[in-house]
Amino acid sequence: MLQTILVTGGAGYIGSHAVLALQRAGYQVVVLDNLSNGHRELVEKLEVDLIVGDISDRPLLDHLFTTHKIAAVMHFAAYIAVGESVADPAKYYRNNVNGTLTLLEAMVAAGIQQFVFSSTCALYGVPKIVPIPEDHPQDPISPYATTKWMVERILADFDTAYDLKAVRFRYFNAAGADPTGLLGEDHLPETHLIPLVLLAALDPQKSISILGTDYPTPDGTCIRDYIHVADLAEAHVLGLQYLLNGGDSTVFNLGNGTGFSVRQVIETARQITDREIKVVESDRRAGDPPILVGSSDKARKVLGWQPQYPNLEEILAHAWQWHQQRHRRP
Ligand SMILES: NC(=O)c1ccc[n+]([C@@H]2O[C@H](COP(=O)([O-])OP(=O)(O)OC[C@H]3O[C@@H](n4cnc5c(N)ncnc54)[C@H](O)[C@@H]3O)[C@@H](O)[C@H]2O)c1
Repeated sequence: MLQTILVTGGAGYIGSHAVLALQRAGYQVVVLDNLSNGHRELVEKLEVDLIVGDISDRPLLDHLFTTHKIAAVMHFAAYIAVGESVADPAKYYRNNVNGTLTLLEAMVAAGIQQFVFSSTCALYGVPKIVPIPEDHPQDPISPYATTKWMVERILADFDTAYDLKAVRFRYFNAAGADPTGLLGEDHLPETHLIPLVLLAALDPQKSISILGTDYPTPDGTCIRDYIHVADLAEAHVLGLQYLLNGGDSTVFNLGNGTGFSVRQVIETARQITDREIKVVESDRRAGDPPILVGSSDKARKVLGWQPQYPNLEEILAHAWQWHQQRHRRP
């Protein structure tokens, strides 16, 4: 019989790509999403069961876990905007920490013991070593990053007390889209560089802001590690299989290992789209480290993870294909 995986946040950007990867690997999937930021049509395209509900709804979770035989949970549901988390931290602690705690308690009550968690490289704060290894000191500088750090601590305690095993994935910048064009990125509001650059390529009224041109990097702009969302999704399947095969709780960085500057991203986007992209240069934003690049050697070694799309050109080409069809004007 096929094993069933509960994917929270499966109507969102990364979660929907994980659903597709799970289906391709032969799992059955149930999605739980409150559609606060997700898209019903992404789940419909994938033809999986969608339960529209909230991770903090304990009666709903208890019902779900008694009516479905869930082998493991992949947890993507969260609020993700760093700036908003500074302005409204309560919203972030309530959803990302309290909501996750409710989910974990319901899992323990139902005897479900495998959990794959979306964490973030933002919990390293300003890096002291680059590429950043998993044992780098943690110093989250936004409420958003702190929520992820807190859940990681909760998971360690749940393992000790209740034997709940978790793989925590600390992503660098998720980017790109499903290579077939089926799925892609659509955050509202959009805060990520690559979709913002492509939206500026689509609309001559729009421009892209470079926040700081005086960083200690070769071209003065911030350098980030962009990891293709299909490669992220594949890592989640491998992390799940690791747990289902009896693996112990652990943590993996998921990144490309190579950094690209903001100017490099814009220049490559100009080439891929063959469009003008207007740029506005402005001051640095508080809390942005000059370079964030991760070491993902551990995921490669332990999980056998092999990213298929490490090139910025491919990441941008897949994202461009998606954005063109998503924002096509009649
Ligand atoms: N996008 C990135 O580059 C990035 C980087 C690091 C970590 N992450 C983490 O990956 C995960 C997915 O990110 P994404 O970019 O796909 O975001 P997204 O906003 O596209 O997806 C999140 C999904 O969770 C749902 N959701 C939120 N709160 C919920 C709740 N209480 N109950 C049920 N559903 C809820 C939303 O409706 C949405 O569909 C998040 O946990 C995020 O923190 C993302």
